[in-house]
Amino acid sequence: MTRIAIYPGSFDPITNGHLDILERGLSLFDTIIVAILNNPSKKPCFSIEERLDMIRTSTEHLQHVDVDTFDGLLIDYAKTKNAVALLRGMRAVSDFEYEFQLALMNRRLNRDIQTVFLMTGLRWIFTSSSIIKEAARFGGDVEGMVPPVVLKKLKKRFNY
Ligand code: PNS
Repeated sequence: MTRIAIYPGSFDPITNGHLDILERGLSLFDTIIVAILNNPSKKPCFSIEERLDMIRTSTEHLQHVDVDTFDGLLIDYAKTKNAVALLRGMRAVSDFEYEFQLALMNRRLNRDIQTVFLMTGLRWIFTSSSIIKEAARFGGDVEGMVPPVVLKKLKKRFNY
């Protein structure tokens, strides 16, 4: 049986921390579907097409990775993909409460799909898409925190 996991998120944009989790997850699952939440009401910095494109380019070197978008309930999407697990990264303690809520709600909605948390490498513990965008918006150097394709996009978006 092929063990499929869904790695969901906003990925606005994908960071090296996300890639770290994805690579760790690939040692546990046969296929991982990186699933971008398509929620225009969240007013993302990058369009869904841009995010898809950035993730596809950043994961070109990895096998057994698919990239997709979803809307509605994550757990319903996971079921349509025959996934056995939802993969989430855990950074600092501050992530815990939200992740706990999300995992318990998802379990209540479907008990057959497990949430699996992986810890990021120490160097990514304080990396988030939001803080990276904030730094980039004001011309801060975020090289090494995001894949090259994302760095290029941020530079273009924030004109630095
Ligand atoms: O990158 P993020 O913003 O932390 O990802 C959050 C995400 C996309 C995993 C979460 O918001 C989500 O799953 N949204 C879809 C709606 C849903 O299923 N919510 C959880 C149960 S109510």
